Amino acid sequence: MQISKLMGGVLLAALSVNAWAVDGAALVNQGADSVADVSFKDHIQPILQDHCVSCHSPNARGFTVSGLDLTSYEGVMKGTRFGKVVIPGNSEQSTFTKLLTGTNKGLKMPAGLNESGTLDKRYIATMRKWVKQGAKNN
Ligand code: HEC
Repeated sequence: MQISKLMGGVLLAALSVNAWAVDGAALVNQGADSVADVSFKDHIQPILQDHCVSCHSPNARGFTVSGLDLTSYEGVMKGTRFGKVVIPGNSEQSTFTKLLTGTNKGLKMPAGLNESGTLDKRYIATMRKWVKQGAKNN
């Protein structure tokens, strides 16, 4: 009796953790358009985690080819081995946000996401806003 109750609790906890992992970025970013200040930790990092880090982390393809590590703020700001991808305050000129809506020599990010290859509009808006606000480590 006691044990089955305990098991039920563990199962429920596991299920809700799982739901959070899947919908984490979506939940966190639902209100990001309306928040005054976009936060790297609360809004940007969950998007990168869900859509970019699978390729842009040490040993993964995006990192091996370009040197861009999107697992940390430092990595984002360091850019590729050819140069920076974020120009604080300028989302139009930052490769980081430019590649989300347009291509550069056929390259668009996230690479191979789906047929249209475009990230959810809300996430793009959030990422652009973060760059416009100075790409802060907040
Ligand atoms: C399926 C793998 C994959 C995913 C997912 C991915 N990338 Fe990439 N990314 C690459 C590869 C591979 C390159 C190197 C391409 C090249 O230089 O030819 C790259 C390069 C880049 C560059 C540098 C481009 C340049 O011209 O210097 C940026 C910026 C970038 N990615 C941002 C992102 C962002 C932001 C996300 C998530 C929204 C993302 N990537 C998701 C594979 C990926």
